Amino acid sequence: MNDHLLALGDFSQATLRFLIDRARALKADRGLGVRRQLLAGRTICLLFEKPSTRTRVSFEAAMYGLGGQVIFMSTKESQLGRGEPLKDTARVLSRYVDAIVVRTFGQEVVEELAHYATVPVINALTDLHHPCQVLSDLMTVLEVKGTLDIKAVWIGDGNNMANSWIEAASVFGFPLTLACLDGFDPNEAILTRARARSDLPITILRDPAEAIQGGDVVSVDVWASMGQEAEQERRLGLFQQYQLDASLLTKADREAIVLHCLPAHRGEEITDEVLEGPQSVIFEQAENKMHIHAAILEHFILNRKIA
Ligand code: CP
Ligand code: NVA
Repeated sequence: MNDHLLALGDFSQATLRFLIDRARALKADRGLGVRRQLLAGRTICLLFEKPSTRTRVSFEAAMYGLGGQVIFMSTKESQLGRGEPLKDTARVLSRYVDAIVVRTFGQEVVEELAHYATVPVINALTDLHHPCQVLSDLMTVLEVKGTLDIKAVWIGDGNNMANSWIEAASVFGFPLTLACLDGFDPNEAILTRARARSDLPITILRDPAEAIQGGDVVSVDVWASMGQEAEQERRLGLFQQYQLDASLLTKADREAIVLHCLPAHRGEEITDEVLEGPQSVIFEQAENKMHIHAAILEHFILNRKIA
């Protein structure tokens, strides 16, 4: 078993599918009012260097819902903020808690923590990946469409979410078309590895109207991610043509669904009409974060074997 969850591309389709199916089972239990105390007596540390609403609260709610405990620590209030090495932090926290959930800038930070930790390290967003989010997205797709045999579309910045969607497409073997502005493509190495793994095309286009043709799962995200605030204004000007509005959405499959990991900037990457419209499953997607996080915590902490 892979002991840490750092990027989707590190996993087999069977493992990711297991996590999604388990999340759906836990969601069904919760709907029936069943609360399993599967992680009673266990504790996780959330180590966050960037803001969060959904990921923080859904990981905390998932852990408490499974009977466990959570310690939240913002990096700047910890000794990490004063320069304590990651390798020392990883080894110390491993002696206190059963898993470390990290939101930070560099992927190398989660990699170094994972290298030195003796408990699972879960990537709750870096500049390069947002793996847990894309698992929630795939869970939502399965719930709504009943299949991952989809034609997926990404419109906008080639950011952390785009990279994780590319890895998801390669692991599950579905075609993915991305409309990215020239100069804002996804990570080259991730793209190359993903294309080598998948038989189905992962295509980068410039024109969103061309990319969305026939797509049945359409994902968008902010044009300036956390850490890129200084570029916000410039990007706003550059990305105008990449807005998902009702007219662009009509070019997708008639039954297409719209995903956005949130937070959204209405009137920028997505219009209010589309976000609130009948094809949007954005709030189901947000809810599913909690269920997928419960499945992830259970699997990695209890070292569950895949059936
Ligand atoms: N989607 C997501 O990760 O949201 P937060 O930044 O609020 O955690
Ligand atoms: N791409 C966004 C995702 C936020 C959940 C960011 O990194 O800010």
